[in-house]
Amino acid sequence: MKLLAGSSNQDFAHKLAQQLNIQEVACEFTQFPNGELRPRILDSVKGENIILLQSFSEPVHKHIVEFLLLADALERAGARHVNAVIPWLGYSMQDKMFREGEPIAAKVVANLVSNSYVKRAFLFDLHNSSIPGFFSVPTHHLSALEILAEHLKSQNLTDKSQVVIASPDFGGLKRARVFANLVNLDLIHLDKHRDLATGEVKTLGVTQPVDGKTIVIFDDIINGGGTVVESAKFLKEHGAAKVIFIATHGIFANNGREKIANSPVDQVVVSNTIAQPDHAEKIHVLDVSKAFADQLQTWM
Ligand code: R5P
Repeated sequence: MKLLAGSSNQDFAHKLAQQLNIQEVACEFTQFPNGELRPRILDSVKGENIILLQSFSEPVHKHIVEFLLLADALERAGARHVNAVIPWLGYSMQDKMFREGEPIAAKVVANLVSNSYVKRAFLFDLHNSSIPGFFSVPTHHLSALEILAEHLKSQNLTDKSQVVIASPDFGGLKRARVFANLVNLDLIHLDKHRDLATGEVKTLGVTQPVDGKTIVIFDDIINGGGTVVESAKFLKEHGAAKVIFIATHGIFANNGREKIANSPVDQVVVSNTIAQPDHAEKIHVLDVSKAFADQLQTWM
């Protein structure tokens, strides 16, 4: 087994290759003058099982096309089986038609991956647990839950009388409940409204009093950061002592990091499924490559 990393998240790829003790395939990434991508595999992959790793993060279209071109190049170079590792599946939030006339973009992306010579796909903390069914190749839906729960325990945030887990909205309740059970803390939930046209978020209520408590909000994705900012503002206005926001995927679109730095949230914890800068105020990054390594080990 060897690992070929696209250009989206090479640090994650190095960590994964190290844990699996496998070689990384050298690759050059150039473009034609008209902007078309021109990746080229530089090592032999003939007869090899390959892990092809790419996060479909920003620039999303570039990273998706690069992934498809690399899968094609691997097939032409004689790779035996290609296992796709996609720590962040771009377009996965568009898992249904929210408004008439829209596509189901997650299904379109799943079709592209399924038709790309990939044998199976390893996916991570998807927005909707039905998405693996959009693929026509076998999928494995892995999770950061255990690693995030361990992090909370390591920070001594386990005292039931002080710390409460919160879902930022009704849709995330099931996910937050699993997390609350793992860390043995009570669960509350916030009432969030999002304007479907503008994306603007407003937190309108909470199921229980929060005064004096540390509230750990548990979500799957931070996109533009509106949910972090609005829920922290709401909880602090209602007397919460501390607000910590934990999510697997940190996109931080539209200056999300700056908005978070200037918001009342005390700390944000995300994983490295999407490449993160070395330092961002209030943001702590956890490595979750081990979750993939543990699963991939059984396929080597
Ligand atoms: C929504 O259903 C998701 O679970 C997240 O709450 C959402 O993606 C967060 O978006 P933003 O950071 O833009 O508020």
